[in-house]
Amino acid sequence: MSSLRVKSRALRKAFILGDPIEHSLSPDIHGYWLREHGIDGSYEAFNVPPAYLAKTLRKLAAEGYVGGNITIPHKEKALMLCDELSDAAREIGAVNTIIFKDGKVFGDNTDAYGFMENIVSRETFAFEGKKALVLGAGGASRAVVYALQKAGSEVLIANRTAERAEKLAENFGCGVLDWGKLSELNDIDFLVNTTSLGMEGQDALSIDLTALPSSALVTDIVYNPLETELLKQANERDLKAVDGLGMLLHQAVPGFEKWFGARPEVTPDLRDSVLKALKAREEKWVLKEGV
Ligand code: ATR
Repeated sequence: MSSLRVKSRALRKAFILGDPIEHSLSPDIHGYWLREHGIDGSYEAFNVPPAYLAKTLRKLAAEGYVGGNITIPHKEKALMLCDELSDAAREIGAVNTIIFKDGKVFGDNTDAYGFMENIVSRETFAFEGKKALVLGAGGASRAVVYALQKAGSEVLIANRTAERAEKLAENFGCGVLDWGKLSELNDIDFLVNTTSLGMEGQDALSIDLTALPSSALVTDIVYNPLETELLKQANERDLKAVDGLGMLLHQAVPGFEKWFGARPEVTPDLRDSVLKALKAREEKWVLKEGV
């Protein structure tokens, strides 16, 4: 038996670190693919307070983990803890995927990839030379702006807190639209919400899509609910509309491939399975919170 075969049989362990972590659907996604591919691997979620991130990463590497995901609130801090970074991680300024290799920590960011794959797998849209409006200026917005610019779009940012929009715009070399002028959409080809507005339990995003051209594409990174008020409006106008769940699913693909050695696919069955997991999680919370 070759040593390679023995190696491929060894249990491969990956992780996700966040605080809180209970909400994460990543264990459901990777668990689905591990079962589907019959891989002897694991993907565990750990709740890690910020002060323990560096120690935890060192410990997991020493214990033979192959890598894992980093989520809120650690994505920016993880950047400093990597020996090497991908261009995406460096330019976005955040790491969501870690690979331990040859004693080094390699940091990547697959959020921009996931965002773009979600759109192109659902709709036909040529980004080159198009005008995109990004709502929000947080961490998710940075990945989306990076992806849109890479695809050749001209990007405008609108954010409730103007200084944050201006800072991000300066950083990426894009324009700013006043948060109070969200009805001026007649030259916008692509509209994306990266704020938490519209999420279950949050206020809806207050925007009127009437002025948006009929060829425009609207997408939301919020996936709970799947059809946010924003997407409902877009659907009512028969605009191209893409929900946010696919971004979460697609961003997981490169990490799984690197850790477990097989390129997984985002299929309707995976979507259903993750949606079921989300529902089950919500029922648990409702009982716990007594809502
Ligand atoms: P993430 O990393 O997930 O993007 P974040 O950094 O907390 O999270 O950013 C959240 C985004 O949602 C921000 O753009 C935030 O606007 P501010 O910068 O003004 O805070 C936006 N957001 C959250 N609640 C909002 C609300 N009630 N109205 C408008 N924007 C809101």
